[in-house]
Amino acid sequence: MNPEALRLWDGPVLGIETSCDETSVAVLEGLSVRANVVSSQAKLHEQWGGIVPEAASRAHVEAFLPAMEQALSESGMNLSDITAISVTNRPGLVGALNVGLTAAKGLAYALEVPFVAVHHLEGHLLSPLLDDPDLRFPHVCLLVSGGHTEIVRLEGLGAYRLLAQTRDDAAGEAFDKTARLLGLGNPGGAAIQELAQGANPERYPLPVALEKEETLDLSFSGLKTAVLRLVESEGASLDKPDAAASIQHAIARALVLRGMQATEREGVDCLTLVGGVAANERLRQSLAKECERRGWRFRTPRAEYCTDNAAMIALAGSWRLAAGQRSGWEAEPESTAPLPGPVES
Ligand code: KG4
Ligand code: ZN
Repeated sequence: MNPEALRLWDGPVLGIETSCDETSVAVLEGLSVRANVVSSQAKLHEQWGGIVPEAASRAHVEAFLPAMEQALSESGMNLSDITAISVTNRPGLVGALNVGLTAAKGLAYALEVPFVAVHHLEGHLLSPLLDDPDLRFPHVCLLVSGGHTEIVRLEGLGAYRLLAQTRDDAAGEAFDKTARLLGLGNPGGAAIQELAQGANPERYPLPVALEKEETLDLSFSGLKTAVLRLVESEGASLDKPDAAASIQHAIARALVLRGMQATEREGVDCLTLVGGVAANERLRQSLAKECERRGWRFRTPRAEYCTDNAAMIALAGSWRLAAGQRSGWEAEPESTAPLPGPVES
């Protein structure tokens, strides 16, 4: 991106992310990630088969200070070196968000530095910049995580337009739910990817919803039902690696189809892939190949910046801070929120 347009906060920014089940603290200086510590609660929630909000909040309280200490130590900095704070305040689990937000306010007060509360999805949308400062705008982004599956057009920083989204389950949810049907652990996407290695993705044909319809929307609830039927009908003879490969193939096909259609319709020549599901190797390779065939750029950050992390949150706040945006003590956590707009003064 044009360096003029990418004006970032001058000095170390502490990023804080606690919107779901990852406690993450990062230190970002310009576009350099000095530290990005992620403490996952996936194992904790596995016993309940889903995220329990109250348990998530408590686990964030326990994990926050150790994560911050580790981030400071890895970056070779002291708290007094931090010049600004960026924290996720929306969307997410309100109790979980509140842990990070309250910590951010306390730190900003004590250190006498500014803080800004940012939208979690802006972190994901901008995450490709962490690996590619030359990222071009406008471009189309496929944002695929456990809670969201959205196709967004990015005109520039703070200029985002939602083009389409899932009508039911998110892509990550589809991985997680079908993984559970196969008896695999959490997070489901990574477990399916691992089991699918070397297996046959054509063995069990699974549907791609809305494939022939004139829409950019996605839908994954039918896939979950189809896998349930497959598991029931095959019983003990089900080949699990082939089933995992077939599920991965079906989800990737749906996302590649929509990614190509959206980029084409928007008349742009660059597609990005972000969010936890972007860590999927099969999906990354397919999108890279299809974009290359069309002469388009394809950008996706390294896996560490795809799943929830505070480095991307520090980045989303850094340009807003540099442009003068500040949050006040009245900032609150919000469970839902539309995509953010330009800098608020
Ligand atoms: O972005 P993220 O960490 O959290 C949310 O904001 O939701 O995404 C988590 C999702 C989970 O559904 C998980 O199964 C999926 O990302 N995921 C993957 C992979 N690694 C994580 N899905 C497919 N392949 C992977 N390698
Ligand atoms: Zn996320």
